[in-house]
Amino acid sequence: MTTLDDFTRRAAHLDAANPVASARHQFDLPEGEVYFLGNSLGPLTHAARAAVTRVLDDEWRNGLVRTWHDGDWLDLAASTGDLVGRVIGAPAGSVVAGDSTSVALFKVLAAAARINQSPGRRVLLCDSRNFPTDRYVARSVAELHGLDFVEAEVTDMPARFADDIAVMTASMIDYRSADLHDVRAITAAAHEHCIITVWDLAHAAGAVKCDVLANDIDFAVGCGYKYLNGGPGAPAYMYAAPRIIGSVHQPIPGWFGHAEPFGFEDTYRPAAGITRFSSGTTHVLSMKAMHAALGVINMYPIDDLRTTCIGLGDFFIEGFDTFLGGGNFSLGSRREGSQRGGHIALLHPDAERMSKELIARGLIVDFRPPNVIRVAFSPLFLRYADVARLVGELTVLK
Ligand SMILES: Cc1ncc(COP(=O)(O)O)c(C=O)c1O
Repeated sequence: MTTLDDFTRRAAHLDAANPVASARHQFDLPEGEVYFLGNSLGPLTHAARAAVTRVLDDEWRNGLVRTWHDGDWLDLAASTGDLVGRVIGAPAGSVVAGDSTSVALFKVLAAAARINQSPGRRVLLCDSRNFPTDRYVARSVAELHGLDFVEAEVTDMPARFADDIAVMTASMIDYRSADLHDVRAITAAAHEHCIITVWDLAHAAGAVKCDVLANDIDFAVGCGYKYLNGGPGAPAYMYAAPRIIGSVHQPIPGWFGHAEPFGFEDTYRPAAGITRFSSGTTHVLSMKAMHAALGVINMYPIDDLRTTCIGLGDFFIEGFDTFLGGGNFSLGSRREGSQRGGHIALLHPDAERMSKELIARGLIVDFRPPNVIRVAFSPLFLRYADVARLVGELTVLK
């Protein structure tokens, strides 16, 4: 019979073999706590701290306004976008960072609706299980563009695809269950009807391979503060397929998206590339933190990050099966690692109280009503030993 001690010993062996184990040293983690919420707000990297300190102590304090031109601030949205691109499988020049995910989604959905403007295309189709902000924004874009707002489960979408749909939007990973959708197949099915596809990668980037170019996605958006560890309120990002970038129009044509922001021209001329999706002044402080954190994630091959992410989740499920049967906990996520994102939904009828109990024991998880405890297996800083500790505490609580 396997004991918790055996399980903990196995964790030590798995940690020793983890190809991305060294990444943990890049983080400034609080003593004594285990952080299972890298899917919500990634932790602080030493690099982000240093980058922000450099802006405060030198670039802003000494350089002042000159740094816009003498430093790298003007190019920061594009260079940060390129670093995101390496994580999500997008070529250089096809991603720009900025705004929040909500605003970014509004911009790309409006751009998509404009591309497919035609009397026959009446529908904007939205993932019915999408994160609430996505559904609010998508409904608003539909109303503004005179489209019918229709919702469907992502898995049902291919059956609904038809020539009356202008745009479809969905999350690659369900924020509650962590279901990983077959982006390639759904995008291909949409394209058969010339539907423009807009994917939210918020819970995917850094935890799974997004392969936006290989999957032929038209547009994507996502958060910088989750697995990318960009910091609280970190900028979002927008991707447009290189084949369409040069012809898309976004609805907030500000000076930072202009071909020559400092030309102060009377008329808007979009930048040739993806920076046409920028609108206003770059949020330098938060962008610098995110840029630095992306440097950390880009030190590791995404295949290794994915392997470790699945490995940690599988190890948790093994512990769940071995030690947690017969209690009130159940699994709300798929068992097959390749079908899951980075987190696992642990279900309990009294999930809110259980989350608080875990947090009081230094295991930081979160609660999603009505009965979900979310536990994320961020591959850069979590250890198998942390998972063993979680399983041990759950055996006490079950
Ligand atoms: C899938 C998804 N999309 C969008 C958002 C919201 O992003 P923002 O607050 O940057 O607008 C979140 C926030 O957690 C999310 O999980």
